[in-house]
Amino acid sequence: MDLELKNNGVLVVGGAKGIGHAIARQFALEGADVILADIDPRVHQAATAMADNACGNIRSVILDATDYQAVKTLAGELNGKDSNLNHIVYAAGVGSNKFGFPFWKMEPSDWPFVLEVNLMGAVNVAHGFAPRMQKCGAGSILFIASIAAQMGSQTDPPYSAAKAAIVNFMQVVAKDFARHNVRANAISPGMIQTTLNKSVWAAWNERQSEEDKRDYKDWADEKISKICPLGRWQDPDDIGKMAVFLASQAAKNITGQTVNVDGGIIMHS
Ligand SMILES: NC(=O)c1ccc[n+]([C@@H]2O[C@H](COP(=O)([O-])OP(=O)(O)OC[C@H]3O[C@@H](n4cnc5c(N)ncnc54)[C@H](O)[C@@H]3O)[C@@H](O)[C@H]2O)c1
Repeated sequence: MDLELKNNGVLVVGGAKGIGHAIARQFALEGADVILADIDPRVHQAATAMADNACGNIRSVILDATDYQAVKTLAGELNGKDSNLNHIVYAAGVGSNKFGFPFWKMEPSDWPFVLEVNLMGAVNVAHGFAPRMQKCGAGSILFIASIAAQMGSQTDPPYSAAKAAIVNFMQVVAKDFARHNVRANAISPGMIQTTLNKSVWAAWNERQSEEDKRDYKDWADEKISKICPLGRWQDPDDIGKMAVFLASQAAKNITGQTVNVDGGIIMHS
């Protein structure tokens, strides 16, 4: 299916690796112009590699999304040059690298950094690009949330709370942008073996008692087969494909929604 995203432009924040990178790649495969933004300088190599197989223009920029001034500066720079920029994806994220179960095993001081990147970074980007999105005529904003948002995950409580807040804020964004024909949605990925997921799960595995402790890979694969009805990990490209669909006119009546791409882990009955 041609999603007709050629001549569209997308900014993917958190695009150097993992899910954000896969989202950017799917936009590139659709022929869109892509700007990868990330705090990690390796974003430049990631963009160069992506440009080899893309027909659209692929660029990269270093951005710390928690720095609102830097976000506003980028929005200002892109205003003149990138007249076709009409999709924004916020895929940057971090875990605390700590482990709850119960929550008091963490400290309140473990929270601010996690909220800063996962929530305030997204808020900064929405604010910084709001003037542009109001003028673009037709566009979308996508937030990468998590199924943790819907289950009060004990694994990393500040992460879970930040993701719940993002889902809520996304609905505000959807309501406020609707009259400008800009849609806002969230994708909640299930379990994807990225750097972030491995750091959280490795911390979890470390907490097993010595006699129960097993090789991380065996333990994690067995866990997935138990918690996921489809019995498998999700892939970054699963999220990328949903992202381009949500940005396209095939989803022109979808706004304010959270789509779980999670192999059925979350099912509300
Ligand atoms: N991997 C999973 O299983 C999973 C599940 C649910 C949700 N998610 C969410 O998906 C998104 C992507 O995560 P991932 O698993 O691909 O992790 P990842 O660690 O592979 O990628 C995250 C990216 O965000 C960037 N980043 C971090 N802080 C930033 C900042 N201040 N400014 C700009 N960029 C910053 C990192 O440099 C990195 O490139 C995150 O929001 C994460 O919470 C992941």
